[in-house]
Amino acid sequence: MNIEGKRIIVTGSASGIGASAMKALVARGARVAGMDLNDAAGAALAAAASLAGPGRASYQHCDVSQREQVQTAFDEAVDWLGGLDALINIAGVERKSAAEDISQDDWDLMFDVNARGTLNTNQVAFKHLRATAAQTAGGGGRIINFASAAGVMGVPGLAHYSAAKAAVLGWTRTAAKEWGKHGITVNAVAPGMWTPMYEHFRSRLDAAQLAAHDQMMAGQIPLGGRLGDPDRDMAPVLVFLVSDAARFITGQTLAVDGGLMIP
Ligand SMILES: NC(=O)c1ccc[n+]([C@@H]2O[C@H](COP(=O)([O-])OP(=O)(O)OC[C@H]3O[C@@H](n4cnc5c(N)ncnc54)[C@H](O)[C@@H]3O)[C@@H](O)[C@H]2O)c1
Repeated sequence: MNIEGKRIIVTGSASGIGASAMKALVARGARVAGMDLNDAAGAALAAAASLAGPGRASYQHCDVSQREQVQTAFDEAVDWLGGLDALINIAGVERKSAAEDISQDDWDLMFDVNARGTLNTNQVAFKHLRATAAQTAGGGGRIINFASAAGVMGVPGLAHYSAAKAAVLGWTRTAAKEWGKHGITVNAVAPGMWTPMYEHFRSRLDAAQLAAHDQMMAGQIPLGGRLGDPDRDMAPVLVFLVSDAARFITGQTLAVDGGLMIP
């Protein structure tokens, strides 16, 4: 589980799970290139992580839905990192709508960021991971995508988000089969974490809906009855997944959600 010196790109690093991941990886000695749309928070978090050390962090603006931006940002990041050992593709967006009312724009946004963002980041990372692996005894490389319980079970009000996250799972399983021959693993995480995205979800509920939601979560999450803390519950799992200890795991969807997704 030693990740000292590992060279890692983290997308969505300006908030929630991504911000927590960057901090934890740098605290264990990794070099992390963070990327997001929110430049003020992204740059501040990278600077704070570097200051705390012992690893280092950088920040670049990168919209994962835009192929050319991904290409440029990843190329620059890999120059700074000196190679690439892992991509953790956390950037994502969610919108709420009844299935019958989903607009074309919201459908496109869900697929552009969550699904196309996975395609763009994974394809560009693959070339760098393969090049780095070719120079390293033992080879390998890690891609970790962010799916959702919504993509497995479906969540009312999130049909477009659920569909896009299901696409992430199909992609992840297939890329894992194709890229295994290079020693590159591709896995997905389905988190259940209390983050700004979840706060935003909660803010759309009225008092009665919130009470019903909290009661439902209390019944459905065996570990604690509520979503987890990214620093305590998610970051250590990501440290494991980018480490050599996870080299024989690929194509899997790992639910880190206190048991919410138990079938
Ligand atoms: N929090 C949960 O319980 C939960 C559950 C299921 C799935 N997820 C997934 O986990 C990931 C992280 O979620 P979070 O809760 O930390 O969310 P968050 O909203 O706190 O953070 C998401 C980050 O992604 C960035 N982002 C959005 N669009 C982007 C784009 N086009 N390019 C680059 N960056 C972009 C945002 O600016 C933000 O900093 C997301 O993919 C989300 O769908 C989270």
